[in-house]
Amino acid sequence: MDLSTTYLGFELPSPLIPGAGPLADDLDTVRRLEDAGAAAIVMRSLFEEQIALEEATTFGVTEAHGNSHGEAGSYFPSPDAFALGPDEYLEHLHRVRKAVRVPVIASLNGVTPGGWLRYARLMEEAGADALELNVYALATDPTEDARTIEDRTVEMVREVRSGIRIPVAVKLSPFYTSFANFAHRLDEAGPAGLVLFNRFWQPGIDVEELEVRRELHLSDSSELPLRLRWLAILSGDVRATLAVTGGVHTVLDVIQSVMAGAHAVQMVSALLHHGPDYLAVLRREIVQWLEDHEYGSLGEMRGSMSMRSCPDPQAYERANYMLMLQSWSATGPFAGRRLR
Ligand SMILES: Cc1cc2nc3c(=O)[nH]c(=O)nc-3n(C[C@H](O)[C@H](O)[C@H](O)COP(=O)(O)O)c2cc1C
Repeated sequence: MDLSTTYLGFELPSPLIPGAGPLADDLDTVRRLEDAGAAAIVMRSLFEEQIALEEATTFGVTEAHGNSHGEAGSYFPSPDAFALGPDEYLEHLHRVRKAVRVPVIASLNGVTPGGWLRYARLMEEAGADALELNVYALATDPTEDARTIEDRTVEMVREVRSGIRIPVAVKLSPFYTSFANFAHRLDEAGPAGLVLFNRFWQPGIDVEELEVRRELHLSDSSELPLRLRWLAILSGDVRATLAVTGGVHTVLDVIQSVMAGAHAVQMVSALLHHGPDYLAVLRREIVQWLEDHEYGSLGEMRGSMSMRSCPDPQAYERANYMLMLQSWSATGPFAGRRLR
């Protein structure tokens, strides 16, 4: 069965890719992922703040980046908190590149245009086949409007693209004022891929210790529908190829993502949970599903449920929201009762 796809300009044998995270930290794991069918490998991110901290140290600036934010600076991670420092990152990237044949995608993570983006070039020189630019930002400054934040991100993408030859993917959050408009503006800046969506860390409160809890829960499939909607809306409407990240765990998650328009399917939580060999299991299950449903290839159904192709495009919009709300009193646990 042909599962091939094109993502970031690479012809890949399947859409299955381990997403950015700790999976690529260990070379044996990286080889196992490739053996199990990973079509590419995405490395964990190198953060803008790490690079700024490194530069502050190198140039003998006493007040490091994080501390310049006053009180908030005390919460800024120390260099030891990061798995790989900037130099180590480049060295590890070089080792990963040599360990596997599949494309290796390095990851830069930050929010402002500027000097730190020269690491894109260093990553290219260290052997990265592509770069994922993660623009995770929280719009907490009440004096900054949406357009300013978006302009800054578009500027970052332009800056990175102009400095390197390898393809660039942009990993986004869904929290933009007008996501479709922003995705199109970004698309005009020419990235080869959009990765939907960053999974935002959400705070909890430890009521005994009076601390904000720092816990990272792995995802489950319930996080996928948000991604499906926006894949379906953007599919065929932007030049960039599309990857899904967030909530892909089962064969049906993969099938739905591809039907919505994903060219690549990234997974982290599922692989941390089940181990690298789970990729091979999923691959077999995808083939079985396609055979059972009489598809000739995975490509045949890509985008078939996108807004442009599906029989009921309004289903992704307000229409289904109203229908869902109206149907509840008839089918829910209070069947027959109309709630007013
Ligand atoms: C332990 C862990 C570390 C991660 N590190 C990064 C990272 O360095 N850069 C990044 O862009 N995403 C990172 N992510 C986010 C994942 O790449 C992915 O987008 C997210 O976990 C949603 O996918 P999933 O549902 O398959 O886990 C990390 C996720 C986990 C669980």
